[in-house]
Amino acid sequence: MDIYLLIGAPGAGKGVQSAHLIEKYDLTHLSTGDIFRHEIKEETELGLEVKRIVQSGQLVSDDLTNRIVAGVLDQHRQNGTKGLILDGYPRTLTQVHALEDYLAKYDLSISKVILLNVSDEEAVRRASGRIICSNCKKSYHRVFNQPNDGKCGECGGSDFFQRPDDKEENVRDRLTLYHQQNTPVIDFYRQHAGFFEINGELPASVVSSEIDKNIL
Ligand code: AP5
Repeated sequence: MDIYLLIGAPGAGKGVQSAHLIEKYDLTHLSTGDIFRHEIKEETELGLEVKRIVQSGQLVSDDLTNRIVAGVLDQHRQNGTKGLILDGYPRTLTQVHALEDYLAKYDLSISKVILLNVSDEEAVRRASGRIICSNCKKSYHRVFNQPNDGKCGECGGSDFFQRPDDKEENVRDRLTLYHQQNTPVIDFYRQHAGFFEINGELPASVVSSEIDKNIL
């Protein structure tokens, strides 16, 4: 199973580029943020436990996050998944060590580590303006990428919502945490042979092409 890591600030384009990688390379998406939001929506025990943390932009505990990811990785190993994109994990050094231990145990390794760089102001502009189709979850921007005629280009839905953690003050808190927690993660993976970084402020299609050049 090939493993790709996608690292970047809130709004850097991890979700957008994951969609590209899934389509082009037949990879499977593992987004810890999506997992938590799904559990919150379904009001599961886990969802109720993490709701306040996720919606305010804080980090879920390492212990809980590591256990959830290990469970999902187990399923993919058993199902023979070809390749996985880890989006938003690992986010702390403790998570890095948990992941590295897991991979070593099953003789797996990370193929590529992709870092998407955006300035804080661009991250705030993107995340705080993001709106999401309630039906298919495709994301748009209130100003820069509005749905045509108010309809989702993917599914035709006309209901859009803002993530609670995308309120500007929450985005700024998430960015502060990103810098605190992700800097040592990035330093760790800079040593990896498959590490590369891309200017995430370029248009999304250009970012995708740059990723392709480094993956092929
Ligand atoms: P998570 O869902 O991982 O959020 P995040 O890392 O803050 O990232 P975002 O989803 O905000 O941004 P993105 O980079 O995916 O950007 P997107 O592609 O959508 O985590 C949410 C929460 O879950 C965390 O705060 C935490 O509470 C919890 N959590 C998750 N993982 C955890 C972990 N490992 N440990 C503990 N807690 C964890 O793009 C954003 C916008 O920009 C869109 O509108 C898009 O259209 C636009 N856009 C994208 N690319 C471009 C471009 N090139 N040009 C112009 N616009 C663009």
